[in-house]
Order: sequence, then structure tokens, then C-alpha cells
Amino acid sequence: MASASNNFLISLVVVVAAAALASGASAQLSSTFYDTSCPNALSTIRTAVNAAVAQEARMGASLLRLHFHDCFVQGCDASVLLNDTNGGEQNAIPNAGSLRGFGVIDNIKAQLEALCPQTVSCADILTVAARDSVVALGGPSWTVPLGRRDSTNSNATGANSDLPPPSFNLDQLINSFGNNNKNLTVTDMVALSGAHTIGQARCTTFRDHLGEANINSTFAASLRTSCPAAQSTSTDNNLAPLDVTTPNTFDNAYYSNLLSQRGLLHSDQELFNNGSTDSIVRNFASNAAAFTSAFATAMVKMGNLQPLTGTQGQIRRNCWRVNS
Ligand code: HEM
Repeated sequence: MASASNNFLISLVVVVAAAALASGASAQLSSTFYDTSCPNALSTIRTAVNAAVAQEARMGASLLRLHFHDCFVQGCDASVLLNDTNGGEQNAIPNAGSLRGFGVIDNIKAQLEALCPQTVSCADILTVAARDSVVALGGPSWTVPLGRRDSTNSNATGANSDLPPPSFNLDQLINSFGNNNKNLTVTDMVALSGAHTIGQARCTTFRDHLGEANINSTFAASLRTSCPAAQSTSTDNNLAPLDVTTPNTFDNAYYSNLLSQRGLLHSDQELFNNGSTDSIVRNFASNAAAFTSAFATAMVKMGNLQPLTGTQGQIRRNCWRVNS
């Protein structure tokens, strides 16, 4: 009897400890996580990202977006990278035919597996690659907390429900960033949207906005040449820069564009459309340091969303599939 009750006590302690681990998961992350287990992890990622961005500037934007689309769907767990599951996140509406950068991540993962087998998670690679992309394009740097682990599932339903579409109005955008325990503030949302200072969007995502009242008419007319009003598969994928002023530089021009009604997406211009976020946009447009500091803070918060830590999940050997 005594030993049975001891076993019960031990199990109880294990359960309570596991629950504490899960609830305080983001507090477990540490910027020195790989210092001993894989000291060259961060430099390997940085070198690969710099090479990829030097080859194609847009890749920096694609890698940053990949991290956002990972974190907003069941947390930063590399679920977006799994393509071995039918109906995974890559097939969800916001992602299909749109997400890029998988090859760069696979290449980094292969190098890290050779250096330190099954040590560096795909989720951490995504997080660091996003930071290094911003730096490579002239943006701010920040210290990345590390120690995320990788999910064993991908969640297409979550991708469809949790990633904001470009048709969202301001209230919907604020709600999308603040809900589901994300607790990202309105300022975080406006700052993170500044990621649209780099990268490109397909005609299908901004066609309707070109016909709206709150867009500069010269800007709209110039976009109409490659993105005519009539829906057509021949023009749907035509690209335009999200920041018409400095498309490949991570600066605060995105916000100045909004002041002159040159936001590319409906959701972009919603941030400056006589609403509660106008003052934040004005501040970021006139004060580059205020933007870069708010962006770095918000990126760390986004990167800390619901990580798997400790013994949760796994360290995938290949980012695109669960370990067999
Ligand atoms: C505020 C809500 C947001 C909406 C509605 C939104 C929507 C979109 C859309 C529709 C595109 C174009 C996709 C395509 O045509 O294939 C895009 C591109 C992009 N988004 Fe967002 N986004 C949002 C927030 C964010 C955040 C928080 C980040 C990162 C921190 C981000 C980073 C990017 C980047 C860098 C691109 C360009 C990607 C490339 O060129 O490959 N977006 N976004």
C-alpha cells in the first residue's frame, strides 16, 4: 500500500510539474539555448539568409512572412512547414500559391543537421531567419529567445480561421491580433503590419482595393495596368510591391505611403482611414526609431506565441515531415 501511494504522489508531482511547464512555456525560452549544444547555429542561419537575400531581395520578405504565418496558427511550432499531411496549412487559403522560402529553410536545416544532429528546431530556424531577413534588408536587430520545439501536426483549419485576410477592416485586424490569448496590442498590430515595407502581393489580394475611395487615384491607375478590375486567371498572380517607395528596404516608408493613401492592400489603408490607429501611423511615419523599436518588441512577442518547450513536440530531422 505504502509503495502504491508513493507512486501516486510521484505521478502527481510529475503531472503538476508538466502543467507548470506548459503554462509558463514562453518563460522557458532563452537566447543562449544553443550556446553549448550548437554554438554555430546562429551564424549558420545568418550566413544562409544573407546569401539568399543577396540572390533575391524578396526572399527576406518571404521568410519574414513564413514566421508570421507559423506563429499565428497554433503558435511558433513550424507547423507551417509540414507538407507530409494532406490538407495541411500549406493548402489553406492564405497560404496556397503564396508562401515562399521553404527551400531556404530546408537548406539551413540540412546544414544544422550535419553540424549538430536533431538539436536545432525548425521553429527556431524560422524565428531567427525572420530576424536575419529584416537585418539583411536594412531593418533593426533584436535578441531572439530560443528553445522552441516542432509540432507533429499541421492545422489547415486554424490557418483559415486565424490568419487575417486583406479584406479585414480595422476592428477585425485589432481583434485578430488580440484574440486567442495572443494578447498583441493595437500598437503591436500596427508595428507588425510595417513588415509590408518589403515584399510583394498578388493582384488577387489588392484588386478590389484599387476601386475604393481611400486610395490615391494616380497610384490606383498605375496598378490597374497590370491588375485590371475584371477578375481573370491571367492577371490574378501579377505582382506589385507592398511598399511602392522603397520595396526592398526595411524602413518606415510603409507608413508615409499610408499618409498619402498609397497602401496596397485594403487592410493596409485601414490603419490610416480616420480611425483609432491614425495617430500611431503618423508617429511611425515621422519617427523611424519609434517604428523600429516597436517592431522589434512586437516581433519578440509574436515569436513567443505558444511555443512547444521541454519534452513537448520534437526536433524534426527534416522540416517538411514529422520524424518517423
Ligand atoms: C495585419 C494583417 C495582415 C494582412 C491582412 C496581411 C496580408 C498579406 C497579403 C494578402 C499578402 C500578399 C500575399 C500574396 O499575394 O501572395 C502579404 C504579404 C506579406 N506579408 Fe502580410 N499581412 C498581414 C500582416 C503581416 C505581418 C504581421 C507580417 C510579418 C510580421 C507580414 C509580412 C508580410 C510580408 C513580408 C509579405 C510579402 C511576402 C513576399 O513578398 O513573399 N504580414 N500579407
